[in-house]
Amino acid sequence: MIPLSQSQVEWPLVLVVDDSPDILALIHSLLRERYRVKSASSGKKGLLIAQSEPAPNLILLDVMMPGMDGHEVCSLLKENPRTRDIPVIFLTAKADIENEEKAFSLGAVDYVTKPIGASVLLARVKAHIAADAQRRSLEGMFRDVIEYAPVIFLIADEDLNIVQTNAQAEQHFGYGREELLGLNLMDLLPQSVRFMRTEGTLARVQPGGAGVEFNPELVCVRKDGSSFPGSATFSRLDTLHGLLHTVVLVNATDKKETLRKLSESQESLRELAAINETARENERKHIAREVHDELGQVMTALRMSLSLMPMQFGTRIPGLIDSVDAMKALVDRAIKGVRNIATVLRPEALNMGLVPAIEWLRDEFLRHNEVRCVLECKGSTDPIDEMRAMLIYRIVQESLTNISRYAKASEVKILIHFTPKEIDVSISDDGCGFDPGEVMIRKTFGLLGMRERALTLGGDLMILSRPGRGTTIAVKVPLHPQLQECAP
Ligand SMILES: Nc1ncnc2c1ncn2[C@@H]1O[C@H](COP(=O)(O)OP(=O)(O)OP(=O)(O)O)[C@@H](O)[C@H]1O
Ligand SMILES: [Mg+2]
Repeated sequence: MIPLSQSQVEWPLVLVVDDSPDILALIHSLLRERYRVKSASSGKKGLLIAQSEPAPNLILLDVMMPGMDGHEVCSLLKENPRTRDIPVIFLTAKADIENEEKAFSLGAVDYVTKPIGASVLLARVKAHIAADAQRRSLEGMFRDVIEYAPVIFLIADEDLNIVQTNAQAEQHFGYGREELLGLNLMDLLPQSVRFMRTEGTLARVQPGGAGVEFNPELVCVRKDGSSFPGSATFSRLDTLHGLLHTVVLVNATDKKETLRKLSESQESLRELAAINETARENERKHIAREVHDELGQVMTALRMSLSLMPMQFGTRIPGLIDSVDAMKALVDRAIKGVRNIATVLRPEALNMGLVPAIEWLRDEFLRHNEVRCVLECKGSTDPIDEMRAMLIYRIVQESLTNISRYAKASEVKILIHFTPKEIDVSISDDGCGFDPGEVMIRKTFGLLGMRERALTLGGDLMILSRPGRGTTIAVKVPLHPQLQECAP
């Protein structure tokens, strides 16, 4: 045998199976310019060559042969995973429809009738080898995409037996590749697959359609029996080898852990904010008291001294009475100012409870705005703890400040509803309204502070507003007392 040159070694290999030596010789002489050719004079021999290395790139297979005929050879080739992807072209003298149909149903890619036309045969061989090379290259790319994807891939057949998987699956489930290929999806995702089977979810996934995201999270079982949470998308592929289930899975442990840490840190921030708020309120209360009691008393004493001066010296010093009266007026203004500062810092009414404090807020609002403002209370107004009263008071105060600054409202309603479990407070106006989504992006602190205060109380705050449709701020606060108390 003449040894092959280096370039000839890379030529595609064609296997010709035919019981006629003439046909074998003819095809050999036709193909040898561009292909390596192996010949087999019977079906059995052909099968053996097809299964040995190097595997042929294409098989030309005679249909009618003594012993094992071409149809049987083709069936056996298609049953074997090593040979099932080799394209087969049938060569036959039987040019009828049934035979043609049978050839394709057995998995042949083409059908050439004898007597063989040289150019047709060459063109077909060339086309099928090129198509097969392209298919293999696409399959290689597809395999690489799956292999190196940063997610877990599990591809299973109709019976959910795993037929393809990737490195991420090995890593996360703790099995070797061969072990994974011997498993069923039920072994890795038992609860979820059982659930999907009962629900019929798998059967409803459309072949070739968009994947179906599985909710809730999957429980994925490792080789050692431990488990991890996963988020997965299921889809189905209609392939030459039947329907395949594809599961793209992400280990959600990190996501869960990050969410847990995030929620923990939000919780801590909220606690910190609550402590801050309490400290600030206590400081305000302290300053209000100092201003009111200390400064207020000194002012009152000063005023009394001033009142006594005309009696003591009025007759002796001309003009004293007028000066004292002017000074008294100044001291009166100062006393009023001191009271105002103390009240703004912390209204006395807050000491009497939430409702009196909000009544005071409403009166102040009415004093400074030409707007109707009604306050309605429902339910038993049992005294609530100071922290709740104070935070709700601040929410109402900020709402009323916003209304007088922006709303251009003609009517404002404050509703306080006490139920055995919670307090609902709403502040509504019929003013210009706004777009809450747009305002949230601006990150202003008034509304943000209101929401944080409500969350500090374990409650919730809703902002209902639309341009031209007024605004309602609705707060729900549960009454279970689990908060740090304000120091007296
Ligand atoms: N009742 C309301 N009517 C109309 N617009 C409102 C009302 N309440 C709030 N807004 C709009 O929402 C925006 C955000 O309010 P927020 O109280 O958060 O911030 P601010 O009042 O602008 O600033 P800050 O309260 O920090 O001084 C306001 O600028 C205003 O445009
Ligand atoms: Mg504001």
